[in-house]
Amino acid sequence: MQDRLKRMQAEGIAEIAQAPDTRALDDIRVALLGRKGALTEILRGLGTAPPDQRPAIGKAANAVKKALEEAIDARKTVLETQVARREARETAVDMSLPGRRPMRGHMHLVPQVAEEILGIFLELGFQAATGPDVETEYYNFDSLNTPPDHPARDLHDTFFVKPGVVLRSHTSPVQMRVMEKHAPPVAVVVPGRVYRNDYDASHSPMFYQIEGLLVDKGVSFADLKGTLLLFIHRFFGPDTEMRFRPHFFPFTEPSAEVDISCSVCKGEGCRLCKNTGWLEILGCGMVHPVVFGYAGYDCETYTGYAFGLGIDRIAMLRHAIDNIHHLYENDLRFLEQF
Ligand code: DAH
Repeated sequence: MQDRLKRMQAEGIAEIAQAPDTRALDDIRVALLGRKGALTEILRGLGTAPPDQRPAIGKAANAVKKALEEAIDARKTVLETQVARREARETAVDMSLPGRRPMRGHMHLVPQVAEEILGIFLELGFQAATGPDVETEYYNFDSLNTPPDHPARDLHDTFFVKPGVVLRSHTSPVQMRVMEKHAPPVAVVVPGRVYRNDYDASHSPMFYQIEGLLVDKGVSFADLKGTLLLFIHRFFGPDTEMRFRPHFFPFTEPSAEVDISCSVCKGEGCRLCKNTGWLEILGCGMVHPVVFGYAGYDCETYTGYAFGLGIDRIAMLRHAIDNIHHLYENDLRFLEQF
């Protein structure tokens, strides 16, 4: 029995030294010292030993038990220290790492371009004005010399809110709102959202325009041309060429559309300008006397010019963006480029 006890101690201590973690160690403890463990098993045979040897065996068994318990406690301390060290390493803060900066946003391309365009006109002495997106038919059409049966109305594909009330199809109604409030002279630029029931690669049901209006004594088409040329040279660069094409708008007479030389091919012809060498950028003209009539302005004393441009379109031309919907889908991979 003494031999069995000795062997058990030696094997037990070897096993304890190999225990990979505290759970395995606990299993070993139960197997060696538990109520159904190896030591209990050996002591069960104590009754068959000669009575004079029993005290010695009992003593030896206690010594083995003590030795194994000490080995288990020592191994446990080692394992627990290992775990604590590993945790400390894994959760440690490396003070030498560079910090993580919060992501920084920036202005969307459309308001960026709007601000740049407005800035040019504000510097010339124009003032900024705004008007409502939900507009009456009177301001959107009638007062701009576009009566109900006028064919130009259909071209706008207007959204109706209810009879007589629309989502404005252009920023031109703000011309009338400004003139009703202010006696001439006026010089305003009006940025804002406009709405049309139109959807393809170059049309979105909501887009942005900037309207311009200048009224004073002796304003001529030459003033319109000079102002627009200055704007175009500032915005698109001093080498950009401009041309007027006769056009029709009900609220201006004469009316024109303005083209600039293609920014990509410089007039040679390319995909962007559809091989024409020119890009249309705005509509304009001299304010129609009928419009002055609605505003209560004396058209014998005052003349004026107006223009309207699409901000989205200009942003797209400048950055060769081929689909207006990129501007409104909020894909950061697109937006971050500007
Ligand atoms: N309102 C026109 C449109 O949306 C653009 C326009 C043309 C505005 C001529 C004007 C103008 O002020 O004089 O198509």
